[in-house]
Amino acid sequence: MALLRIENLGQSYDGSDILTDVNLSLEHGEVFALIGPTGSGKTTLLKLLDLLETPSSGSIYFDDVDVTKVESNRLAARRRMALVQQKPVVFSMNVYDNVAVGLKWRGIDKASIKQKVEHALELVDMTDYAHRDAKTLSGGETQRVALARALALEPNLLLLDEPTANLDPNSVSKIEEIIEHVISEHKISIFMTTHNMLQGQRLADRVGVLIDGRMQQVGTPEQIFSAPTSKAVAEFVGIDNILAGTIDKKDGDLVDVKVTSGLVSAISHYELGQNVYALIRPEDITLSLAGEHGSARNAFSGKIFKITTLGSLVHIEVDCGFPLFVVLTARSALDMGLAVGTQVFVSFKATAIKVIKRWA
Ligand SMILES: Nc1ncnc2c1ncn2[C@@H]1O[C@H](COP(=O)(O)OP(=O)(O)OP(=O)(O)O)[C@@H](O)[C@H]1O
Ligand SMILES: [Mg+2]
Repeated sequence: MALLRIENLGQSYDGSDILTDVNLSLEHGEVFALIGPTGSGKTTLLKLLDLLETPSSGSIYFDDVDVTKVESNRLAARRRMALVQQKPVVFSMNVYDNVAVGLKWRGIDKASIKQKVEHALELVDMTDYAHRDAKTLSGGETQRVALARALALEPNLLLLDEPTANLDPNSVSKIEEIIEHVISEHKISIFMTTHNMLQGQRLADRVGVLIDGRMQQVGTPEQIFSAPTSKAVAEFVGIDNILAGTIDKKDGDLVDVKVTSGLVSAISHYELGQNVYALIRPEDITLSLAGEHGSARNAFSGKIFKITTLGSLVHIEVDCGFPLFVVLTARSALDMGLAVGTQVFVSFKATAIKVIKRWA
């Protein structure tokens, strides 16, 4: 039995639909990451799951009990979950009291509160901060206090809204470490939202992609990142090469996809004439000056028309009759003397292409 199940959930504010027909279930002990662009409805969905708001349509079941509307059911379920908000609030009192807040609201006795708060502070490595005024903490520390406050409640379901947004890389690693520890040590289900796809990949058993209030795809991180089923998901997960084309030739599952002015060989079960997108990750493309392309089925010559340096990586755009994005290390780009206008060769395997259906 799933811990949480939502069916056809919808939410609208002032007549505009923010969430539409969201279906999902979360198993006991499962970690689910909801990813999606800003404004796609992630926080809205989390607020519905936290039973803070009621949905405009659809149902929510917690341990198979309908908690969509019945107030007593909602209250009982709320005691088994805890939410860490996107912008956590700390009160002007010390860290210990901030962590104890939720427990006091629940009317727990003082001795148990002490034991639970101390344990929670240990989990987030903030024991030494117990007497600090919470208002004087850094962003990362504040986030840890908020996490401790939620963990002290020993929830069955932990809801985390962007637990590492706006934090420096060290604080991000620290928070991820704590979450990983909680996942491995405690049998707890986690539903978290994140802008950061890699974080979803690192922490979650399953990932869901929410775009414009609709759940576009749910799957393991591998499925989402290597086999997106729609153009919107492919774009969101950073597949820079999305070539619109049509299946032009077919020999078993080996197909030629006709793109603007070229043919790319790929593996696909779609029929001749099907409109498709060919998705190619930039890192799966080899770029060379000499034109040796080994066993790769796809080889094109082209001219570099744009180079963008991003830290130690360089994004290179090559015009091969159609545009292709390639990623190289800054070092290799320098060694090869690449510049705008350089004539290059690009190659990639048929298996590096993922072909998805296009509704033209
Ligand atoms: N109470 C509200 N009344 C009206 N509109 C709202 C309300 N809450 C959210 N919205 C709108 O719903 C949409 C989704 O907001 P939401 O905060 O759920 O997005 P999000 O995916 O969490 O974004 P972000 O990644 O920036 O946190 C936005 O357009 C937002 O302006
Ligand atoms: Mg949000």
